[in-house]
Amino acid sequence: MTIILYANRNTGICVLSYLIAKGYLVKLITDDDADIITVANYYGVEVITFEEMGDYDLFICCHGRKIIADKYLSDKMINIHPCLFKYKGHNPVERYIKNKDTVGSVESLYLTAEVDAGEVICREEFETPVIETYAEFYNIALPYYFKLIHETLLKLKINNIEGWMSEDELEFLYDTAKKMKDVVEIGSYKGKSTVALLGSGAKVIAIDTWEGNDDLKVTNRDYYEFLKNTGGSDNLTTIVGDSVERSKDIDDVDMVFLDGDHSYEGVKRDIEAWLPKTKKLICGHDYDLPEVKQAVDEAFKIDELIGSIWIKRI
Ligand SMILES: C[S@@+](CC[C@H](N)C(=O)[O-])C[C@H]1O[C@@H](n2cnc3c(N)ncnc32)[C@H](O)[C@@H]1O
Repeated sequence: MTIILYANRNTGICVLSYLIAKGYLVKLITDDDADIITVANYYGVEVITFEEMGDYDLFICCHGRKIIADKYLSDKMINIHPCLFKYKGHNPVERYIKNKDTVGSVESLYLTAEVDAGEVICREEFETPVIETYAEFYNIALPYYFKLIHETLLKLKINNIEGWMSEDELEFLYDTAKKMKDVVEIGSYKGKSTVALLGSGAKVIAIDTWEGNDDLKVTNRDYYEFLKNTGGSDNLTTIVGDSVERSKDIDDVDMVFLDGDHSYEGVKRDIEAWLPKTKKLICGHDYDLPEVKQAVDEAFKIDELIGSIWIKRI
C-alpha cells in the first residue's frame, strides 16, 4: 500500500507524520521545501518527483503549490483544501482571515484537471475566534486534518491492515453495514474487518478479548495496532472481553459479524448468544473451517456465502 504525498511546510510535515504513524509506505513530492525533506529523511521516506511516481494506491495533495500536469492525473488522486466551500483556489486562509470568518473547514476532494472542481469526499468543520494569523488558524485546524484523512481513507476503503479478510469479504462488510444502523463485531484483532465496517458509517461495537486462543496468539501489541488502526473513529465502541459475557450488556443490534473463537463450541455459543439479539442479519467468517461450518449448519440454513463469510438474514 503506497501513498504518494505532495506536500509542503508545517501542514505537510504533520500529514506526513500522521501517515507514517499509521504505518503507510509513503513517498514524498515537495516543492523544494527543506524542512519537510529533513523530516522525510528522519523517517526514511523517499523524496521523489512527479516523473518518478510509478505505481501507487493513493496520491494525496496537501497544499501542493503547483498545478499538477494533466499527464500525471489519475483517479487515485485526492486534494486536501482548507475552507473549500467558501474559498476555492489560492490563499483560502488569507481570505478567511480577511473576512473575519469564525467557521472554518477542511475538505478532501477528488483531484481533477479543473482545480477544486472534483467531488468532495469528506468535510470537517470547526469554529474559531476571529483569526489574525495563519499560525492561529492552523493551530485550530490541524487536528481536523488528521480526522479528515482518517475518514477519507475509510471512505476510500484504503486498508493496509494485516488480517485474513479478502477484498470481496471486506466489500461485503462495508456494503452491508451501510444499510444498518448498528453492527456488533466479535473478533477484531488488528482491525482489518473493523475498519471496513467503520467506513460504512454504521455504529460499530467491536468486542475482543485480545487474548486469542489455542489457534491464534494475540498480544497487547495487537491491541495497540487495533487502537492505532481504528483511532479517530467517532462511530466505534471498543469492548475488551469475552463475546458471550459481554452480549449480556448489549441490546438488540441490526447486524452481527462473528469472527472470534473458531472452535465448534466457540461458534455455537456465539450464535446462541447473538442470534436472539440480531434484528436484520447475522454473519461470520471462515465457513470453510469444518468446525465453524458444523456449528453454523446445526443452527440454521445459511442464505448466502461470500468468500468464506456465511450469511443469515433474519
Ligand atoms: C481471526 S481473529 C479476528 C480477525 C479480524 N476480524 C480481522 O479482520 O483481522 C480472531 C479474534 O477473536 C478474538 N477472540 C477469540 N475468542 C474470543 C472470545 N471468546 N470473545 C471475544 N473475542 C475472542 C481473538 O482475540 C482474535 O483477536
